[in-house]
Amino acid sequence: MKAILFDQPGGPDVLRFGEAPDPKPAAGELLVRVRATAANRADLLQRRGAYPPPADASPILGLELAGEVLSGAGAWRPGDRVMAVVTGGGYAELAAVPAGMAIRIPDRLSFEEAAAIPEAFLTAFLNLFTLGRLEGGESVLIHAGASGVGTAAIQLARSAGARVLITAGSDEKLARCRELGAEVALHYKRESFRERVAEATVGRGVNLILDLVGAPYWDDNLASLAIDGRLASIGTLGGSRGQIDISPILAKRLTILGAALRRLPLPQKTALAKAFAAFALPRFESGELRPVVDSVYPLAQAAEAHRYMELNRNTGKIVLRF
Ligand SMILES: NC(=O)c1ccc[n+]([C@@H]2O[C@H](COP(=O)([O-])OP(=O)(O)OC[C@H]3O[C@@H](n4cnc5c(N)ncnc54)[C@H](OP(=O)(O)O)[C@@H]3O)[C@@H](O)[C@H]2O)c1
Repeated sequence: MKAILFDQPGGPDVLRFGEAPDPKPAAGELLVRVRATAANRADLLQRRGAYPPPADASPILGLELAGEVLSGAGAWRPGDRVMAVVTGGGYAELAAVPAGMAIRIPDRLSFEEAAAIPEAFLTAFLNLFTLGRLEGGESVLIHAGASGVGTAAIQLARSAGARVLITAGSDEKLARCRELGAEVALHYKRESFRERVAEATVGRGVNLILDLVGAPYWDDNLASLAIDGRLASIGTLGGSRGQIDISPILAKRLTILGAALRRLPLPQKTALAKAFAAFALPRFESGELRPVVDSVYPLAQAAEAHRYMELNRNTGKIVLRF
């Protein structure tokens, strides 16, 4: 099969479109013809040699896909249109997918739109609801609101009846986040999110923060949380180490939580996929939830897509079409 491969770690130029052995699905796995996948920050790290795949994962890049079932398992039949998070192997013509991870693609969505859903929406769903316990009437601050994960999180949180505040780094991104349902959108390069959150919540703080930035935001994040607030740490785009003051955790009874979707045990991941499908599929059918596609590249141009992601310009997902 055709796939994106690299022989040594490095910049986007190491990626090449070549031939790889077909995957061999294990019992309970589907063989899927991949029609589209999408770029993730983890792919950039793995390409640079800084994020080795789990031992049992495909060494090929790609954490999500949308395609057609070629050989079924469980309730799936050949020809079914499915989307899924995978532990690797999405940047390829064929992929093995555990049957429990496959989610039906709503009829109104193309493969390219569907490929923008799995990683961003499942990460957002896990951290907002399963771990973050966000409820209707609560408030959530979403950093990097225009990112793939951010654009999914804004919509999911709004759909659950929560009040959404976001940060982003350009006026265009702020405007797009408002369209998606953010009530308060802050330009973090021009203003202090800590001050604006205090203002917007009349000093109470937010109930949950979805953070992709990490260490530089620690103090301001804790200061921006309400009593019994939760900080869901899902990324370290700004760094992972620093000096921290833990006293607000005690004083405000805060919960700090984190998870990497890729390393979640399969039974938990399939339970997540099931809960997500029940919540989100009717909302995708009705148009209340939408995949946010920033751009689409042919898979053979994965290096271009990686370069573009490294510029931090995208709003939503960068899709790779086979
Ligand atoms: N834990 C998990 O399971 C999991 C799963 C998926 C993704 N993630 C993580 O979530 C993060 C976002 O992923 P994504 O694919 O959604 O990203 P993305 O679409 O590439 O967007 C990332 C955005 O973050 C902002 N950003 C980058 N560096 C920043 C910094 N130092 N400080 C503040 N903002 C910064 C930029 O937007 P601005 O213009 O607004 O600055 C950038 O466009 C990544 O760290 C990724 O590894 C975690």
